[in-house]
Parts: sequence; structure tokens; C-alpha cells
Amino acid sequence: MKAKTENLMQAIISLSKQRGFMYPGSEIYGGISGMWDYGPLGLRLKQNVEKLWWRMFVENREDMYGLDSSVITHPDVWKASGHVASFADPLIDCKKCQSRFRADQIDVSLGCPDCSSHDFSEVRPFHMMFKTFVGAVEDSAAETYLRPETAQGIFLNFKNVIDSFHPALPFGIAQIGKAFRNEITPGNMLFRLREFSQMEIEYFVRPHDWEKYFEAWRTNINAWGEALGLRLQEIEVPAPERAFYSKRTIDFNFSYPFGQDELYGLAYRGDYDLQNHTKFSGKDLYYFDEATKERIVPHVIEPTFGVDRTILALLLSAYATEPDKEGTRTVLKLKPNLAPYTAAVFPLLSNKPELVLRAREIYQGLKSSLAVAWDDIGNIGKRYRRQDEIGTPYAITVDFETLEDGSVTVRDRDSMQQERVNETELAEYLRTKIA
Ligand code: GAP
Repeated sequence: MKAKTENLMQAIISLSKQRGFMYPGSEIYGGISGMWDYGPLGLRLKQNVEKLWWRMFVENREDMYGLDSSVITHPDVWKASGHVASFADPLIDCKKCQSRFRADQIDVSLGCPDCSSHDFSEVRPFHMMFKTFVGAVEDSAAETYLRPETAQGIFLNFKNVIDSFHPALPFGIAQIGKAFRNEITPGNMLFRLREFSQMEIEYFVRPHDWEKYFEAWRTNINAWGEALGLRLQEIEVPAPERAFYSKRTIDFNFSYPFGQDELYGLAYRGDYDLQNHTKFSGKDLYYFDEATKERIVPHVIEPTFGVDRTILALLLSAYATEPDKEGTRTVLKLKPNLAPYTAAVFPLLSNKPELVLRAREIYQGLKSSLAVAWDDIGNIGKRYRRQDEIGTPYAITVDFETLEDGSVTVRDRDSMQQERVNETELAEYLRTKIA
């Protein structure tokens, strides 16, 4: 089981590196733990995920407002949010080999996972926010933090959005952006990073309505999982394990090769954040109901989605090796609307200028509205293999028949079946497939 686990993670890591999905951060300097860079294909995949999320949860709804707030905020934000006091993980050191662990992730009675010693330090809280300094002088007055969650930027702009747009309750504010956590034990590639992206919604509701909207968002998260083809498992998080701000949490877990763990979360934050920011900032953060003339401090339902964990889960779910005519092929069975390229265009023979010219015309025609790749290296079999490996759902070959009747061969990545499609219908054909 362990070998299989390591093999699948290793296969994803090597494919990502070789084919330009993900590169280890600062690699030429020996790397830096907990950081990964998105290569050209990984970036396309990430942008497709973010676009789909934004369309589903912001553009397609009338009750959602988008936001892009700054990563660095006034330092008091993190006092008000409770992060300065409570955003810590329990740290334990092995006194023999000096390895550090999260005390809640190891079984100390089994000894140190690295050297088996039982000589451990006391468990102590390790603060996870990255400190930084704003301004030219490195004194403590200018000290603040990189945000550990995108959520707080939303609470800071709660009143601004109300004043600009006068939304009716319930309404939500959504944001996609970076978050930073100095994790004790980063690892498992994109699973536990120190710099990562979140897609978050703070959904503001009348206090007595919270359960209804908690259920609605629970359904929405599952619908998102289905849209991506990811199997999610819900886990009700017991009170002692919930984040300090949450009155109820459901984790949406995924089966990674290293075990089942959190992919997404849904939390009921009550009025914790709005009340605390009111207290610390001295500005009243409330909603004024014009109809009833009531001042309401809304309660908050928070669905949160890790972007990088989504990418990892998609790569793991899509990865397959299977027999084909020439032996074994590696294929990423990504959904067509998420794959880095929708199609690749090939001239059948790269030494026939008339085929290359016609194929380039078709490629250029599609490129203005669709994500298409060009490939004219090696034989067709090799090109299919290369495109399968990066998950391109359709491969279009321009051959001598194309010159006569305008038809091209379209080969389906998963079934490996081919059909002839007229070049004038190609763009529509592909658009229907990715709709
Ligand atoms: N605002 C709520 C919040 O930040 P969280 O459960 O701490 O809640 C939300 O984080 C999501 O962010 C997680 O479900 C996960 O997908 C992602 N995430 C959290 N820590 C991460 C890390 N170190 N590396 C990658 N993704 C992480």
C-alpha cells in the first residue's frame, strides 16, 4: 500500500515537472519547503478551475459580489480576528534527531517517526503567521503579517460593499487569492503548502436563518465536487477540533494516496468576525434593514476551497496508465473544460509544406477563441502520447483529405476513437464538447 501510495504521488510529481504543470519552488537553489511554482500547463489548469468556480459562485448568481483585497493589512486585523492569539499548531521536537512535528499528527508512544527515539520536548504552540514589516524602519510599530486566510479581507470590506451596492440579505462576498501559513510540516506536494491559494465566500445571513443557508452551501460544495468529477466525503468536525471561530464545521475530504484528508470546508462563523472587528476598529459593522428599520449583525456561513489541493486532487483522479496499440500510455483524464488545452492540431507529415500551411491556418483560426496546442514533432503516435499525458481531450490531424474536402480527423483522448469533422464545424464541435 505504501509503495503504491508513493508511486502515484511520485508519478504525479515527475509528470508535473517534466510536462510543465508544477515545479518545486526555488529549485536551482536547492528548493524551499512548502513552495511550488505553477508551470505553463499547471497555470492553465489552475486558471480553468478558478474561472469555473467564479462563474458558478459569482457570475451565475445575483447575491454574490467579487473582491480582490490586499494580502497585507493593518496589524490590528489579526488581533481582532483572533489569529494573533490563537493561530498556532502544537509543536513537538525530537531531542535526539532534532526533527520537528505537529504533535497532533504523530503518535508519540510509537517514538520519533525519523529516528524512533522517545526523547521528545514539551508540546508548545507554534505561531503560523508570517511576519513582515511595512515601511522603511524595521521596528515593531510597522510589524504586520501576510494573511493566513483570504476571509478577513472580506470582513474588512463588508461595509464598503453594503454602501456601494445596498444588497438585500442574504448576500455573499467571494474572493480568490493567496494565503500564507508557516506550516510546521509542509509536504505531500500541493497538499500542505506555506504559500497557497484559496477561493472563499463569506455569506451573510439573518442570524435565525443560518441553518438553512449552511445546508444550501453544503449542497453547493457537493455540486462543485460533482462538476469537477471529485468524490468528496463529508466529515462533521467535533467541537474540540474546530477552528477557534467556528460554531459548526463540515470538512469535505478527499482520498489522497497518503490517506483521507481535507479538501474543502464549510464553517458557521456566527457573528464572531463582524463583532470583533467592530470592537477593535471602533466602526459599527452592521446591516440596516430598510423594511423593518432594524440594525442586524449578520451571521456568516463560510464555504472555503483550497485551489492547490483541488489541483492535486484533479491530477490524482485523472492520472491513468493503460494499454494501447504501442504498449502502455499515460493519460490524464481531465474534464475537457478543465484540461490545459482543449485540442492539439497536427499536420499529418511535417515535411509536407502544404499540410503544414493548412494545419497552421486551422490552428490559428481556433486559437483566437479556444485553448489549442500545436505539435509537429515526431510521428502521430508520439504526438498522441504527448497530448494524452497532458490531458488534451481532442487531437486534430490535418491530412491529404483535408486539402481536398476540408475534413480533419478528430481523435478522442479517452476512447481513442477517431471521426472526420469538417474544418468549418471544428470550433463549434469543440465548444459543444467543453460546454
Ligand atoms: N477561512 C477559513 C480557512 O482558511 P482552513 O480550513 O484553514 O479555513 C481553507 O483553510 C482551505 O484552504 C482548506 O480547506 C484547504 O483546501 C486550504 N488549505 C489550508 N491550509 C493549506 C495549506 N497549508 N496548503 C494548501 N492548502 C491549504
